[in-house]
Amino acid sequence: MRKSVLFVCLGNICRSPMAEAVFRDKIKKAGAESEIRVDSAGTGDWHLGALPHVGTRNVLDSHDISYQGIRARQVVSEDFQTFDWVIAMDRSNERDLIWLARQCGADEKKIIRFMELLGNHPTADVPDPYYTGRFGDVFQLVDRGTDILLRRLLEKSDR
Ligand code: 4NP
Repeated sequence: MRKSVLFVCLGNICRSPMAEAVFRDKIKKAGAESEIRVDSAGTGDWHLGALPHVGTRNVLDSHDISYQGIRARQVVSEDFQTFDWVIAMDRSNERDLIWLARQCGADEKKIIRFMELLGNHPTADVPDPYYTGRFGDVFQLVDRGTDILLRRLLEKSDR
């Protein structure tokens, strides 16, 4: 069965588009494009239509990972219908998503936090590089988390 995942951060220009690009690259390399759909969005609306932040683009370029077609958009209530999993990059994003899900009567069990993928990691949040500038650190977390996510989704698929 086809699975779908939406990564959500605040601005949809730093962390969630990085997660989308890295996960899409892994899906492609695993030959699982017909099985897993991925997208990203932000809880805020400041950067609608924008390319990923230059720091995210530089990190992706350095790993030869495409971000073609990725433009910032805001999360909408229909996303809770469209996607099987809505993955918040930090606790603040998670709170905002739970609030939105409750507003529109959606299933809030679809919402997980990215760092939950990494088990008992000492931090609960993917730190926001918009403020820290540490895009490389975010890449390391995103790379590990999306490896685990891909394995889980492929284990659960019917192939
Ligand atoms: P992101 O980072 O949520 O990882 O995309 C941010 C991007 C923009 C802003 C905040 C965080 N902003 O305030 O514009």
